[in-house]
Amino acid sequence: MTSRYRVDYSLKEHRRDGLVEWIKGLLATPFVLYAVKSNGLTAFDDLMVNSEAKRRYAEIFHDLELLIDDNIEMTKAGQPELSRLKQLVPSVGCFFTRLPLEKAFYIEDERRTISKRRMVAPSFNDIRLILNTAQLLELSSSFHSKMDTNNRLELVTFDGDITLYDDGMNFDASSPILPELIRLLAKDMYVGIVTAAGYSEGAKYYGRLKGLIDEIQISDKLTDKQRENLLVMGGEANYLFRYSNAKKELEFYPRDKWLLKEMNWSENDITLTLDFAQEVLSDLIVKLSLPAMVIRKERAVGLVAKEGHSLFREQLEEVVLRVDKRLKQFPASKRIRWCAFNGGSDIWVDIGDKAFGVKVLQEFISANDNTSIKAGNTLHVGDQFTSLGANDYASRTAATTCWISSPSETKVLLKDLIRYIDDWATY
Ligand code: IMP
Ligand code: MG
Repeated sequence: MTSRYRVDYSLKEHRRDGLVEWIKGLLATPFVLYAVKSNGLTAFDDLMVNSEAKRRYAEIFHDLELLIDDNIEMTKAGQPELSRLKQLVPSVGCFFTRLPLEKAFYIEDERRTISKRRMVAPSFNDIRLILNTAQLLELSSSFHSKMDTNNRLELVTFDGDITLYDDGMNFDASSPILPELIRLLAKDMYVGIVTAAGYSEGAKYYGRLKGLIDEIQISDKLTDKQRENLLVMGGEANYLFRYSNAKKELEFYPRDKWLLKEMNWSENDITLTLDFAQEVLSDLIVKLSLPAMVIRKERAVGLVAKEGHSLFREQLEEVVLRVDKRLKQFPASKRIRWCAFNGGSDIWVDIGDKAFGVKVLQEFISANDNTSIKAGNTLHVGDQFTSLGANDYASRTAATTCWISSPSETKVLLKDLIRYIDDWATY
């Protein structure tokens, strides 16, 4: 293997997604074969090529649906590793629902003219959005079946930065996402915000979520019960809050009210892990001459740029990959769960991860509201789904997921979800 190959493929593995890359490869074949004649192209030729390319792409998505069905069957039988999809794409995660990919392809093809393109092959973003649409279609289908109440979408969780608001900004009253979240709540769904931003005081989250919380308090579209269906999990899985009508603010729930058995890590291991991460980050500031400083919190350590400076992408990636690797080799951190990620302008090592964040919400709601919310009843929406240095990735083991790249994509996603639920007959 040449060193150039290594740089391009191996070392950038963390910026790819195995399943999306593999689907991209499958779609490249019809794209290349139907790129057609170099000249003398008539309008009729063009129409034929469009429909032929569309048919081939749709067939591929149909076949993928079957591979995912097979994977679900093998997982139920306790042998996911023997499913054909797992053998073809070893990094593939767990599917909690079917995915109607062919239908999703037709919807996204109308929007993105994938099959009409001759020079730009089906891209990462095309496939990411087809996967999202397939997930939404499937989750909304349960609202139309009286039999299928076990699979009803009950909880939608959101990452904060980039997903609900721009990086480092707040959720204010003018957010275009606000009416969509109110619509979800009005449909009796729970809305959870599962963010890395970690503070033990509700006032800090009120500062960041003021627009949403004020509206929930006064909206005439919500019943009092629905208002209390807003929860916030901060610091990945460290600080739990629920909106309270009595208090008219986010109510804090201490850990002994919700800590899962699997999260009962030793305080000593937590401290050793944070101490070690702090040491590694401080060391990297010197080694890489970064204009940055280290911040230590109760359950996190961060590396942030000094006032008036910023860190560029390569610096952030270098730091996150190095601290992740060191922690994976450190005995105390091997005994607990932690997450190291690149926040876009800073790096954080948090205790716990969003898989636990989402699971705590599922268990807490199930226990307190006498219901049963599992992975297949939960959707997590986030922007960080690459396998290393990204903190939404962990949620894939606890919920179905949609991968967005900006708050405006979240807005479109929620409008689609509500349309598929309300207007199922059309889809
Ligand atoms: P998220 O996108 O909602 O998960 O929030 C990630 C951002 O929260 C990071 O990029 C940080 O800037 C910020 N943040 C503030 N406090 C913490 C913390 O304790 N751990 C991790 N990130 C934090
Ligand atoms: Mg984010």
